[in-house]
Amino acid sequence: MHLSHVLSAAACLVSSALSTTHPSSGGSNHEGPDLNGKYWIYGEGIAASFIPYGASISNLVLKDKNGVPRDIVMGFDKASDYAADKAHPHLGGVPGRYANRIKNSTFEIEGVAYHITANENPTAEHPDGLDTLHGGKDGWDWRDFDVVSHTNNSITFSIVDPDGKEGFPGEVISYITYTVGDMTWDAKMVAIATTKKTPIMLSSHTYWNLDGFANDKTSTVFNHTFHLPYSGQRVAVDNILIPTGDILANAKGSVNDFWSAPKQIGQGFEDPEIHGNCGFNCTGYDNCWLVNRPAAHDWRADGAFVASLSSAWSGIKVDIYSDQDAFQMYSCGGQNGSFPLKAGQGVGRHHDAVSSRNVGDPQTTTTKKGSDRTVPKYGCVVMEVQDWIDGVNHPEWGRLGKQVFGPGGDPYVLQVSHRFTVG
Ligand SMILES: *[C@@H]1O[C@H](CO)[C@@H](O)[C@H](O)[C@H]1NC(C)=O
Ligand SMILES: *[C@@H]1O[C@H](CO)[C@@H](O)[C@H](O)[C@H]1NC(C)=O
Ligand SMILES: *[C@@H]1O[C@H](CO)[C@@H](O)[C@H](O)[C@H]1NC(C)=O
Ligand SMILES: *[C@@H]1O[C@H](CO)[C@@H](O)[C@H](O)[C@H]1NC(C)=O
Ligand SMILES: *[C@@H]1O[C@H](CO)[C@@H](O)[C@H](O)[C@H]1NC(C)=O
Repeated sequence: MHLSHVLSAAACLVSSALSTTHPSSGGSNHEGPDLNGKYWIYGEGIAASFIPYGASISNLVLKDKNGVPRDIVMGFDKASDYAADKAHPHLGGVPGRYANRIKNSTFEIEGVAYHITANENPTAEHPDGLDTLHGGKDGWDWRDFDVVSHTNNSITFSIVDPDGKEGFPGEVISYITYTVGDMTWDAKMVAIATTKKTPIMLSSHTYWNLDGFANDKTSTVFNHTFHLPYSGQRVAVDNILIPTGDILANAKGSVNDFWSAPKQIGQGFEDPEIHGNCGFNCTGYDNCWLVNRPAAHDWRADGAFVASLSSAWSGIKVDIYSDQDAFQMYSCGGQNGSFPLKAGQGVGRHHDAVSSRNVGDPQTTTTKKGSDRTVPKYGCVVMEVQDWIDGVNHPEWGRLGKQVFGPGGDPYVLQVSHRFTVG
């Protein structure tokens, strides 16, 4: 990609956003990828790897309450496996240029209707699908990003999304920076519409299992405790998860109530309301909760997390802080035991990835039990910070200022901070 053009066009806008994440002392070691094609970064008690494909997180390793390193995100052992995977579950990547679903693969900006590529819910009449999921057939998480910078504790990727790609108007240039610190993993995503007004909404589509898929009592996330303190409301959706425009109340004690108190994900499955909760014939969660905060709030303030997930088995807890105003949680009802775990994951398996760059080296793993080498139904949870889904088709929600960007205006910015504790 024409990176010099990217840098000259975008340098002014993004330099301030990027500079805060780069250590001024340099510290750039540019070691490049390991033998599996992964770029590792290191913080205090935490290590993570990323790949250019989709600017995806591939490993996230920290020690559980017994001091055992756990890799708590889904992924493949090799970077080259991601593009080869036909099922493509948007694994740890950045969905773009517009995350989640767009109704009828259509939107309008200033009176002009745009039709983008459909890629979900095919019918005889619409063989490509009835809607667009995660930016279309060749959305950002199907593409190789450029590595702009790689230091010991951060990595920055960039992508140039051309005018007309997947039917979207105008060129978009984006930088994705990941940083790890003292038991933290942060992401900053900046995108600039350089030529035309266009919708932009990004996210991180990470699949979590806080037990590193190694819990010998249960392979599901039903015993993970989830909390959405600001989410008394959610977006109403139809049978194929397209927003209807209505906003629903999450009545206290109902399946979608995670605001009144932290609750185990499995608890909702005891209520018949859980059937059809994630679309037609779908049991579980794949919902977009609104994040309702006071107008003046500091999203970084201690305790002001938008979501929290924990598992008593590993003792690992993640509090998610973000500047975004909605939160999607998916309970992995689509997994069916076909997706393989990484070498260091699973019952009886672990590796010292905090100090080793050779993840997947069979000599660093041990096997006590040969089974449980795949992700079962409800074996993971996806948590996505984003804006109100399909807000581009719902001007009545008042989200256009946060979802439509053009030359001369502010850049799109998403910030998220994952803060871990173990106990
Ligand atoms: C990278 O960061 C880790 C964690 O802060 C530190 O232990 C290690 O010494 C650093 N390595 C280099 C080459 O700076
Ligand atoms: C399981 O899911 C994978 C990926 O979506 C799919 O290719 C496969 O056909 C499914 N298997 C069964 C038995 O449903
Ligand atoms: C749905 O999309 C089709 C094809 O792109 C278009 O012709 C039609 O006008 C759209 N319908 C609505 C209600 O936007
Ligand atoms: C684990 O989850 C199951 C299913 O929701 C529940 O019945 C059980 O009580 C939970 N166990 C613990 C220890 O919380
Ligand atoms: C609904 O789901 C059940 C269980 O997975 C399946 O047997 C049934 O065929 C599905 N019904 C329809 C209409 O898809």
